[in-house]
Formats: sequence, structure tokens, C-alpha cells
Amino acid sequence: MKDFVFHNPTKIVFGKDKVLEVGKEIKSAGYNKVLLAYGQGSIKNTGTYDKVVTSLSKENIQYVELSGIRPNPVFSKVLEGIEICKKEGVGAILAVGGGSVVDSVKAIAGGVFFDGDFWQVFQRKARVEKALPIFVVLTLSATGSEMNPSTVVTNEDTREKFYFTSTAVYPRVSILDPVLQFTLPNYQTSAGASDIIAHIFELYFCGEEETELQDEFSEGILRTVISFTPTLIKNPDDYHARAQVILSALFALNGVNGIGREPGDWSSHMLEHSLSGIHPEIAHGAGLAIIFPAWLKYMMPYAEKKITRFSQKIWGIDNPEAGIQRLKEWFISIGLETSFKGFGVKEEEIPVLAEMSMRMSPLGSLKTLDAKDVETIFFYCF
Ligand code: NZQ
Ligand code: ZN
Repeated sequence: MKDFVFHNPTKIVFGKDKVLEVGKEIKSAGYNKVLLAYGQGSIKNTGTYDKVVTSLSKENIQYVELSGIRPNPVFSKVLEGIEICKKEGVGAILAVGGGSVVDSVKAIAGGVFFDGDFWQVFQRKARVEKALPIFVVLTLSATGSEMNPSTVVTNEDTREKFYFTSTAVYPRVSILDPVLQFTLPNYQTSAGASDIIAHIFELYFCGEEETELQDEFSEGILRTVISFTPTLIKNPDDYHARAQVILSALFALNGVNGIGREPGDWSSHMLEHSLSGIHPEIAHGAGLAIIFPAWLKYMMPYAEKKITRFSQKIWGIDNPEAGIQRLKEWFISIGLETSFKGFGVKEEEIPVLAEMSMRMSPLGSLKTLDAKDVETIFFYCF
């Protein structure tokens, strides 16, 4: 097991109607004016917006708004948010939404104090050292962004979908109210489940050995997601099932799952970011449901023992190829695609997808991937 330091400063407030406490949390942290950031309208249709502004008003917290953050969020919106924060002199930012809103807010919070070309931070040429405090009301559990230091944004000019990580952008407080997720379309629940599974996989299949406790923990989360997602597809407002998936998302990527084996592999994620950078209509988790089985197939010579363990522990079968096949069948059963063809992605796009992925190299810890490896994995996605 590798040496590790674990420190996660985010306060989690979990429970029914906890959204109504957001104003109190912001007030008690000492802020009275925030940027209220949200997506393309779901929070207004679902009533979450009204609950949030009621809570803010009750505590006399002023707010200015940034709306219209889209899935697979874009850099121009981040720059817009930075300008509003500077002009309005807000003390903190409140994200109300899923990973795309939380990620945009993290970038805005860091960008407010950054001088120069902010995209350089995403290119890993510069770092964010300071950020405005971030508060989150989460409406979609998938990315783990509610309790981690990462943000992923697409630059529309270059189509690069890049990330940065900074301890300065850990949310101060994240409110996880399962009721807010009752309104999720099944497709988003399913894409979210795929993302959670992928976060587990990136650390489970990273090549690190002697991590027995961590592997059991990972398998527990995998079984939980695999068992409760179909329940949610049938009953989106099943509180218990939502709560289980919310916790799964949280622990898959808040650092706990990485203990003793970080940084993890993450090459599948980099390949997916290339895909949804070029095809922003594809949800991140939906892309992973195609790429991860393809990556596992390619990694068979390097990870046969671990894929066999996964197949036994999760599906109760001994054959590793059959274990990957069962995973694909499970994705299909919850309404996801397992081939690029379902999205109209063409084989001719493989070179550009591979080139975009290699911009994030070095890729992978189980096996370091070169451009040829990446092209083959993309080829397996058809
Ligand atoms: O835009 P709105 O109106 O808010 O609608 C959203 C959006 O259309 C909708 N939605 C969210 N909550 C809802 C709801 N609809 C009804 N009821 C609710 N309660 O769902 C759609 C998808 O939302 P989005 O935020 O894009 O999804 P997700 O949470 O999966 O975030 C995906 C983004 O996060 C990045 C992904 O690459 C992608 O850009 N990731 C961030 C990570 C991180 N920061 O650590 C790690 C991940 O691996 C990932 O890369
Ligand atoms: Zn992910």
C-alpha cells in the first residue's frame, strides 16, 4: 500500500429538506452576498430554486445570479461568472445543480483571484492558490465534485476538455438533500451510476496491490450502485435508494476510495473527456459506459487477476471476459449505450479523439498508454 495523506475539509449536510438550511450555513460562515449559479432551468421547474432563495432571503443574504450553465460546461461561462463576481463584490459562491454547475463554480471561484490567461491553469502551466468560498446544493449525485478539489471544463475554441485540481476549491459546505434528486430523468440517474462505477474502477484497477480493505470498500460501493440504480429507474422518488446512491457517489470520489492507491489510473476518464469535449451532447457517464468496458478488454493482459476478482465478487462468475460482458449488459439494462454507434460517433473520428486524449498524457498507471493504445481502445468502442 502506498503512503498517503487524507484531508477533506468539506462539511456535508445530508437529509430531507436540508436545502432549507443553505442560508443558515452561508450566514454562519460569515457571508452576506453570494453569486447564485445554476444550470439550464431544471431548478426552476422542480421548485429547488424557490427553496434556495427562500432560505437565502430568510437570512438576509443578497444574491446575484449566473444561469444557463450547460452540461459539459464551457470556459466562456466561467469567464462570465468571474466578471460578475468581481463587479458585484460577492463574498462567496453558491452552486445549485449537478457536477457541471459545481465544476463551473469551482473554476469561477479560483479565477477571481487569478491574473493572466486562466486557461493555463487547465493546461497545467499555472496553479490556483486561492478561491472564493464555495457552497453547494447538489441536485445530481454522480461526479463527487461536491466533496473533492477538481473541476472539468471545456474550452469551446480548442474543444479541449481539461481539469484542474486545487485544495482551494473544496466546497466549504455541500447540502445533499435526496428529495431534490427525485426529479432526475432516468437517463441522468443511469449516466450518474456509470460515472460512480467508473470512479471506483479508476482506483480499483490502478495496478496497486495489497489493498484488501480498499478493494472490499470499492466492491461494496459497486454492489450498492448496481443494486439500487434499477430501483430508482422504477421509482425515482425512492428516498432510501436515492440516499444509498448519493453516499456511493460521495465516497467514490472524495478521496476515501483512493487511500493508499492514489493517484489511480484515470486514462478512461481522459478518453471520455476527449469524447464529450468534441461531442458535448454526450453525458460524461454515458460515454464512460462505452469506454470503460473497452479499456477493461484492452487491459486484460495486465489486469486479468483483478478483473477475475471483480467478476467473482460482483457477478459471482469466474470468467473475466464474462464479467466485462455482464457489466455491459447491466449498462444496457439501465438504458445506456455500450457502443459509439448509438451516438453516431464515426470510426473516422478515432485519430482526433486519440490526439485530444494524448494532450493529457502521460495516461494511465496500470499501463501507460501511447497513441496507438488509445486508438485501439477507441476502436473497441464500436
Ligand atoms: O442544466 P440543468 O437544468 O440543471 O439540468 C441538468 C442537466 O441537464 C439535469 N439535472 C440536474 N439535476 C437535476 C436535473 N434535472 C432534473 N432534476 C434534477 N434534480 O441533469 C443534466 C446533467 O447535469 P450535469 O451537471 O451535467 O451532470 P453531472 O452531475 O453528471 O456532471 C457532469 C460533469 O461533471 C464532470 C463531467 O465531465 C461533466 O462535465 N466531472 C466532474 C468531476 C469532478 N469535478 O470531480 C469528475 C467526473 O469524472 C467528471 O469528469
Ligand atoms: Zn467521472
